[in-house]
Amino acid sequence: MRSLIDILELDVNEIKELIEKANDIIANPAKYSEKCRGKKLATLFFEPSTRTRLSFEAAMYELGGNVLGFSEAQSSSAAKGESIADTAKTTSCYADIIAMRHPKEGAPLVAAMNASIPVINAGDGGHNHPTQTLTDLLTIQREKGRLDNLTVGFCGDLKFGRTVHSLINALSRYENIKFVLVSPEELKLPSYVKETLKKNNLEYVQTTDLDSVMPELDILYMTRVQRERFFNEEDYLRLKDSYILRPERLNTAKADLSIMHPLPRVNEISVEIDNDPRACYFKQVLNGKYIRMALILKLLEVE
Ligand code: CP
Repeated sequence: MRSLIDILELDVNEIKELIEKANDIIANPAKYSEKCRGKKLATLFFEPSTRTRLSFEAAMYELGGNVLGFSEAQSSSAAKGESIADTAKTTSCYADIIAMRHPKEGAPLVAAMNASIPVINAGDGGHNHPTQTLTDLLTIQREKGRLDNLTVGFCGDLKFGRTVHSLINALSRYENIKFVLVSPEELKLPSYVKETLKKNNLEYVQTTDLDSVMPELDILYMTRVQRERFFNEEDYLRLKDSYILRPERLNTAKADLSIMHPLPRVNEISVEIDNDPRACYFKQVLNGKYIRMALILKLLEVE
């Protein structure tokens, strides 16, 4: 039995297989519509979500399975003080697989250590978000036709952005990726993630100036400054609009730039950009369902 807590638990070959499976599901959805008949997915969401929870649920329904769970801690016995370990043991009695989101780093790992069914980390605090990374990798593969030889810009909150941390870790295993890290000083990439880049001798630059690096980017991964991660409102208000992507900012960008964002967006991408053919963020949303279908099949060992 296998869980997925950190993207690095999947090797590059397994990621390739998941991407191939997702592409096959996209091409032949009917082939998969009964694969999880009789199986149940429990979505244990202790923190708000739209895309991750709904895409997991849609994924399980499209595989012919069923879904149970809760979407906020207050409607579970966590509100009465129940531990993650007991919640995981209890859910193992009712479901075949768990997707868990939690504001505390490490909570899905604790669940995996106590559950008798696979646990998928659906985002833990400012730490990791491996299924968003699988979504991002599928999107990059479909948009660019490759996962290597790319210059990838990450812009916004690189300190608390778990999607950024997971994607950097994943991309660090592919050939010739150049990382361009754009953030305010206060929201720079944490040193423990930067260590991965240093340890693997990967090329990276850090800057506060998005416009100066725009012409070299193949991918621009925008992120939201996350109010929920700040300890004081004043800092959030000062930093929240550090980068706003407006159409004129793309004048120097490559014609085949892919603009990505894990969403939700607040102000950081102007809605006028949604109609630009380079905007990929709603394609990411859809890809998230297909790659989660592929992951559920893998962890449930369904042929
Ligand atoms: N990308 C993402 O995790 O979105 P949600 O918070 O809506 O799940």
